[in-house]
Amino acid sequence: MEIIKKQAAIVTGASSGIGYAISKKLSALGYEVFGIGRNFEQTKWQAEDCVHPIVCDVLDTNKLCASLKQIMAQHQVYILVNNAGIGYYGPHEELSPDKLKKLVRTNLEAPMILTQQLLRHLKKNAGYVINVSSVTASQSNPHGCAYGATKAGLTSFSHSLFDEARKYGVKVVTIFPDMTQTNLYRNADFREGDEIESYLLPEEVAMTVEWILGQREGVIVTDITLKPQFHRIKRKSCSSV
Ligand SMILES: NC(=O)c1ccc[n+]([C@@H]2O[C@H](COP(=O)([O-])OP(=O)(O)OC[C@H]3O[C@@H](n4cnc5c(N)ncnc54)[C@H](OP(=O)(O)O)[C@@H]3O)[C@@H](O)[C@H]2O)c1
Repeated sequence: MEIIKKQAAIVTGASSGIGYAISKKLSALGYEVFGIGRNFEQTKWQAEDCVHPIVCDVLDTNKLCASLKQIMAQHQVYILVNNAGIGYYGPHEELSPDKLKKLVRTNLEAPMILTQQLLRHLKKNAGYVINVSSVTASQSNPHGCAYGATKAGLTSFSHSLFDEARKYGVKVVTIFPDMTQTNLYRNADFREGDEIESYLLPEEVAMTVEWILGQREGVIVTDITLKPQFHRIKRKSCSSV
């Protein structure tokens, strides 16, 4: 009897927040999910989740490429979700060179390397590259100049990649979430407002991925923005602003 293998999906930043929710969603949709992250100790998978945690720092290019090769050797990769990201905020002069390098390498360099490594494979499988950008990509971001610049770069890469790869059947999608309730703001002096209307939930971003994948062959949702009803953030030490 022929054993039919599940299609595989690779999700970076699968240990928490949006990447965790997308990994669970893809697993529920029947994909064999390889979730990349540095630390899964706090990550709570349910028995039904078919997610293989891959402990790898996306800044460790050699290890990352070796992990991807191993997955590609044994699985048909159909989806790459470039989601891993970090945020450092504050007046630009207060961000150290080390933080700036980490921002650019994590949010921009790693997605480009992952995509480069997987693209021939994704062309063969007429697969998806889903890039998690941010609403900051297209706006001015005082106290988030560098973060916003990395997301603008990722968006530019994503749009050009679509035009380059669409004739090979590859679907490239850019998602632009606004304030989402995750750990991204751990280094910031602000967080989402208290009301449910002032933030998105990671599961809501994951539902968007399901909707994107549900389009008929030949239709591609290239860009999708999600915003909460209210634009309200809260300083960590005082009230909503
Ligand atoms: N939250 C928001 O309001 C918001 C809005 C727009 C866009 N986004 C974007 O959404 C994406 C996910 O962020 P999130 O909000 O879900 O925050 P999060 O909960 O902090 O998740 C970030 C994920 O990225 C992983 N990661 C970070 N650096 C990594 C590295 N060097 N190697 C491997 N994995 C790494 C983290 O895993 P480990 O720590 O285990 O490595 C974690 O799983 C980011 O690209 C972020 O810019 C978020």
